[in-house]
Amino acid sequence: MSPEIDGRDGPEGRDALEGLAERFHAVYGRSAAGIWAAPGRVNLIGEHTDYNGGYVLPFALPQVSEVAAAAREDRTVHVRSLLNGETAEFSLDGLAPGVVEGWASYAAGVLWSLEQAGHRLPGMDLLVDSNVPVGAGLSSSAALECSVALAATEIAGVVLPAAELARLAQHAENDFVGMPCGIMDQMTAVAAEAEHALLLDTRSMSTEQVPFTLAQDDLALLVLDSLAEHRLVDGEYAARRAQCEAGARMLGVKSLRELTDDGVAPEDLPARLTDEVTLRRVRHVLTENARVLAAREALRTGAYAQLGEILSAAHASARDDFEITVEETDTMVETLLRLPASGDVQPALGARQVGGGFGGCVIALIHADSFDGLLAAVQDNARRRGFTEPTGFLARACPGARRLA
Ligand code: GLA
Repeated sequence: MSPEIDGRDGPEGRDALEGLAERFHAVYGRSAAGIWAAPGRVNLIGEHTDYNGGYVLPFALPQVSEVAAAAREDRTVHVRSLLNGETAEFSLDGLAPGVVEGWASYAAGVLWSLEQAGHRLPGMDLLVDSNVPVGAGLSSSAALECSVALAATEIAGVVLPAAELARLAQHAENDFVGMPCGIMDQMTAVAAEAEHALLLDTRSMSTEQVPFTLAQDDLALLVLDSLAEHRLVDGEYAARRAQCEAGARMLGVKSLRELTDDGVAPEDLPARLTDEVTLRRVRHVLTENARVLAAREALRTGAYAQLGEILSAAHASARDDFEITVEETDTMVETLLRLPASGDVQPALGARQVGGGFGGCVIALIHADSFDGLLAAVQDNARRRGFTEPTGFLARACPGARRLA
């Protein structure tokens, strides 16, 4: 039996989030005004393209961050996390980057960002819980930000379009938390739809819901957490972003996305970029944008063998040109693709590391029957190499942020 997380069971245990209303009452001695949720995400394809004005094709996971909230009469905010039992307390007056740090900065940053945009908020009591794996490249931070953004705006009677909510959450992460992320994770958390992947043009912010239902073709999307310790993640992420921006300057374009619009071919790049590292970074972004559009086409036409090849090509580009993979994830991808077919088990149609990089999760497009065999093979190989044994689950596309109660 494959452990599909359907919002009830699975390795991360949806049950952990039950009873948030009761817990809120126990902590704050009054009822919550409501409960809001925002999901983590898997990016099917389009890595490190979002801060280059490019295309991404993510979908939302069943795993969510939930927040129970109630307004206060004053400007004080309490935010308690059931993940670590800690409570942060601060005032909305004088809230500024650096005032709140650690996990609570994601929640505080969102409130700061909303107020910066002119939306006056009341103080509030918040209780947060989450079953989005942390540090796995599945956007647990965007899930937290967007669940708090939704709760805070509803409490304040502020109605914002999804894209604006996402932008304000990104602003919080960029300028309050200090992580220079793009818009993909927040936009997925608010705008994703069940059974669809979200094609997002991060320059125009236009979206297209692309039907994404693998089960009817006896296929599945396997998510494997390498559990590899993230190394230098934030510094390396910022460095990649800076290299892309330097590349755009050298090429005389506003963003690397323009290369796609101008029909620049990867072969044209060496004549225009003499710096070898910059060339490879730019080539990844250029070819990745093309792969996102090709993946959308493959999904539309049900060309799954081709979709698999596109995913694997994206991994090679992330490994060789963008240099954001690690031995653990490279080994997992290799095992998934090279496993000899036997009995029920067939190799994956395609596989790649997802998210910002340097560890985290690997996804694979697989024949649904091969789940157990592929997971066992990946775990065996990891053990043999002296790596932590990865965990795995099958994911399907779920809805974005919403009010639960
Ligand atoms: C992180 C960031 C995103 C995006 C990805 C890489 O998840 O938060 O904005 O840049 O990395 O595609």
